[in-house]
Amino acid sequence: MTFQAPKGTFDWMPPRSEWALIVRDALSAPARRAGYGYIETPAFEDTGLFSRGVGESTDIVTKEMYTFESKGGQSLTLRPEGTASVMRAVLEHGLYGGALPIKLWYSGSYFRYEKAQAGRYRHFSQVGAEALGAEDPALDAELIVLAADGYASLGLKNVRLLLNSLGCKECRPAYRAALQEFLRGLDLDEDTRKRIEINPLRVLDDKRPEVQAQLVNAPLMTDHLCGACKAYHEEVRGLLTSAGLTYTDDPRLVRGLDYYTRTTFEFIHDGLGAQSAVGGGGRYDGLSEMIGGPALPSVGWALGVDRTVLAMEAEGLLTERPGHVEVFAVPLGEEARRRIFPLVAELRRNGVAVDMAFGGRGVKGAMKAADRSGARYALILGDRDIEAGAVQVKDLTTGDQTAVPLAEVVDVLKGKLS
Ligand code: HAM
Repeated sequence: MTFQAPKGTFDWMPPRSEWALIVRDALSAPARRAGYGYIETPAFEDTGLFSRGVGESTDIVTKEMYTFESKGGQSLTLRPEGTASVMRAVLEHGLYGGALPIKLWYSGSYFRYEKAQAGRYRHFSQVGAEALGAEDPALDAELIVLAADGYASLGLKNVRLLLNSLGCKECRPAYRAALQEFLRGLDLDEDTRKRIEINPLRVLDDKRPEVQAQLVNAPLMTDHLCGACKAYHEEVRGLLTSAGLTYTDDPRLVRGLDYYTRTTFEFIHDGLGAQSAVGGGGRYDGLSEMIGGPALPSVGWALGVDRTVLAMEAEGLLTERPGHVEVFAVPLGEEARRRIFPLVAELRRNGVAVDMAFGGRGVKGAMKAADRSGARYALILGDRDIEAGAVQVKDLTTGDQTAVPLAEVVDVLKGKLS
């Protein structure tokens, strides 16, 4: 019997897996440069954290959670997202009593029982950043700029930024009521009518054309923002522009998690088909209180690693082969293997990426392996070279080959590769 990765999951295999590492590194680098500290939380949490934090009425909580009972009888859930966990950790460790904002970044696996399709997986990877404990439009703008800089550093040209404000606890209730009143007058199916009562904003996000057609004149949050929210949003917009970002105001942008207030945003890539969001986030001023903490206004984002690699592929950016070795050692015979082994170790200690031929496959097989490795140079050692105290350094691009004294080979290769 053989096994396959479960539906909705996949393996990152070399050389493509190198891109996942590159993307994680590039997307987190701007936040690391901006004073965000690394946080790692468990892959599972008390189920209540997500049902209260993410929201009882969201698809994530009602349909997509991997929930199980521990042997001790506790209900646990594989994390579907990172923000609730970060907030839980900050509250648990009492960080809100210190210097604010608390700036944190993370990277890891997340789990949602979604309908599997291209770009939508049941196990996926995010890089996230959160700034907790400050209400300052510059913090919202900072996070958005950091995310945009991360995408740009990967060479991505077609990432668009959508921006919206979802208001606050002062102005949202009146808007919600106005939207509900409008929606109740439409011709909608039973499920959608139920949604009007529980989570009316989600109806705006309905993808069906017959629903969208009826929503043309739906009231928009933008027109119902209170003075404070309006001023806050204007400030965020101005700061984004001042830092050279372009964005599209999208008054219909709705997010799939309940904790958002004020600034919300999404990064979209048009080369990805239906699953076009490569990242998203926003302000969540009420989340701390939702899970039993003090008032702690906060803002953050999570960027999808898997979809960012797909976006790079769509833009033709996965052409070079990352992560390959620079040198490949080919010993011709057992004595040569004994001699070349410590040389390979020495080169690696000097920072050179080296692999060698294993399994005694003969010269032809070994040279084929050298070519396949992507190395620029082969180090070939035969009996005659051993006698001469030298090793052949072959340039695999030009085919040029020179004998280099064993004692000098580390320096010579380092020079060639610098
Ligand atoms: P989210 O929009 O649910 O937000 O996820 C952020 C990103 O993760 C998405 O834009 C997408 O790129 C990726 N993603 C989500 N689900 C999947 C999936 N099933 N397969 C592949 N990629 C996926 C959050 O998770 C919030 N915690 C973001 C946030 C942080 N808000 C404030 N702070």
